[in-house]
Amino acid sequence: MPRNVLTAVAWPYANGPRHVGHVAGFGVPSDIFSRYQRMAGNRVLMVSGTDEHGTPIQVQADREGVTARELADRYNRVIAEDLQGLGLTYDLFTRTTTRNHYKVVQDLFLALHKNGYVTERSQLSAIDAATGRGLPDRYVEGTCPICGYDGARGDQCDNCGNQLDPQDLINPRSKIDGKPPKFVESAQFFLELPAFAEALGSWLQTRVDWRPNVLKYSTNLVEEMKPRAISRDLDWGVPIPLPGWEDRNDKRLYVWFDAVIGYLSASVEWARRTGTGDEWKQFWTGGSADSFYFMGKDNVVFHSVIWPSILLGASGRPQGSPGPYGELDLPSEVVSSEYLTMEGRKFSSSRSVVIYVRDVLERYGPDALRYYLAAAGPESSDTDFTWEQFVTRNNTELVAGWGNLVNRTMSLVNKNIGSIPAPGSLTASDESALQSSRESFAVVGGLLGRNQQKAALHEAMRVVADANKYLSDEAPWKLKDDPDRRESVLHVALQLISDAKTLLTPFLPHSSEKVFAMLGGEGVWSGQPELREVDDLDGGPSYPVLMGDYATQAKWESQPITPGAEIGPPVPLFAKLDPSVIEEELARLEQ
Ligand code: MF3
Ligand code: ZN
Repeated sequence: MPRNVLTAVAWPYANGPRHVGHVAGFGVPSDIFSRYQRMAGNRVLMVSGTDEHGTPIQVQADREGVTARELADRYNRVIAEDLQGLGLTYDLFTRTTTRNHYKVVQDLFLALHKNGYVTERSQLSAIDAATGRGLPDRYVEGTCPICGYDGARGDQCDNCGNQLDPQDLINPRSKIDGKPPKFVESAQFFLELPAFAEALGSWLQTRVDWRPNVLKYSTNLVEEMKPRAISRDLDWGVPIPLPGWEDRNDKRLYVWFDAVIGYLSASVEWARRTGTGDEWKQFWTGGSADSFYFMGKDNVVFHSVIWPSILLGASGRPQGSPGPYGELDLPSEVVSSEYLTMEGRKFSSSRSVVIYVRDVLERYGPDALRYYLAAAGPESSDTDFTWEQFVTRNNTELVAGWGNLVNRTMSLVNKNIGSIPAPGSLTASDESALQSSRESFAVVGGLLGRNQQKAALHEAMRVVADANKYLSDEAPWKLKDDPDRRESVLHVALQLISDAKTLLTPFLPHSSEKVFAMLGGEGVWSGQPELREVDDLDGGPSYPVLMGDYATQAKWESQPITPGAEIGPPVPLFAKLDPSVIEEELARLEQ
């Protein structure tokens, strides 16, 4: 039975181009998952967009000497292009500055307010002494009052792990200009998180198939929930939709409150753009879909505690009545990855410990990067990106392993036959090679369904290695005097290649597309995202989105190849990298 699957991908801040660390967490894993689900016959809705409010945008806008709006416009486009280049198949990649998003955010705020889950309280908040703008907790640094560590942040101390408030820090200073912030009493709206503790606790107990780290961390968070401010002293963000507040220029909703609601607003926007406007319900209500949220681990608290609380409260649970979107379903799984470091150091755009996605795409192409991240990314433990490993994996696994299998088989067939040969009579070893390849679909698919992508890729590459071994053992190049047998062997080898390209499609969609065409396939095998310029649905300025037609031919099964289909000379799938690339890239890092 086909299922509906919501793939909810973390929204990148529109404050700069994306680097490899960003897309390792939310980008590539969510696309591998969605492509597999579509191939398996499920109906996928994959949504996200740029996260354009709050201090991260404001701070970068000040640095670049532009307004927040200009900065968001600039990087919304840059990021959409980065993600398109990687081949991430969003059904809609939008942004948080659309009128549709503002409305959905305000609707949910009002539903929470009406049900008594949002209250007004006074709070001591940190303000930048020079600009008067609110400083988010993470932008205040100082000495930890508990362990004495000097680099503690206003939200938590990374040394002892304790949750903090900015005013607890000793010698607090603003991360922006290094000066001490001012602390002032100011009225804010709070989300009454403790009201959801019981419901969230029982819900988490049912989430047994989450990654153990994520589940344990989330369960701990639920045990210590306090009311949390969802408004800020800022002029850039979604206005608070209450009388006396909505026209104020110094108060906005907190960026994380509006961003997580983006999953719902983008689904609504998608339905309004592609259907009657109601189709989003098939992914959000009545248990009609499974939902998977993809992100790096610093985002977990917002997805396993805050977003579920918003969903509950706006649905009238545990008390109250459902808001305009009815009863909304909780996430099926929060799929968080760990951190990727860069040659042993933390990624940092400001200290140029960084590799931008667009540079990698330009120099090495999308599949080489996708492959590296799937094979060696931070799926369930922190990992380090090294150029040496990048070059080695590219050259041994992609070029010498998969690329070479395709290349030598295709050139043999092209030179000696010119088309896909018929199988003839098959030996036991032919049959067993074909059978083991067919059986790997269930294995790789099972792993992909559980987001064990490393293991899944490993298994798919085992099929490639087996096929290489089959070819070497049967050595069709030695069968000049036995053309019947040679044709059978090449038929089997091409079938193994066809299976492998299907198994690898979620990981390597661009090269699988080429293999599909080389095997005589016509039309699109696996769709790619398109950048489209669209009008705001409610009269705001137009903007670029990623959308695409992903209902293509790629199916998760071994499809028999067609004898007689013409086989031309092979086209190269991957480029071998000279080891000097390592030095070159390391030198760029030092600049
Ligand atoms: N912009 C945030 C970050 O880069 C992620 C937002 S995810 C969402 O860390 F859920 F809020 F959308
Ligand atoms: Zn500490």
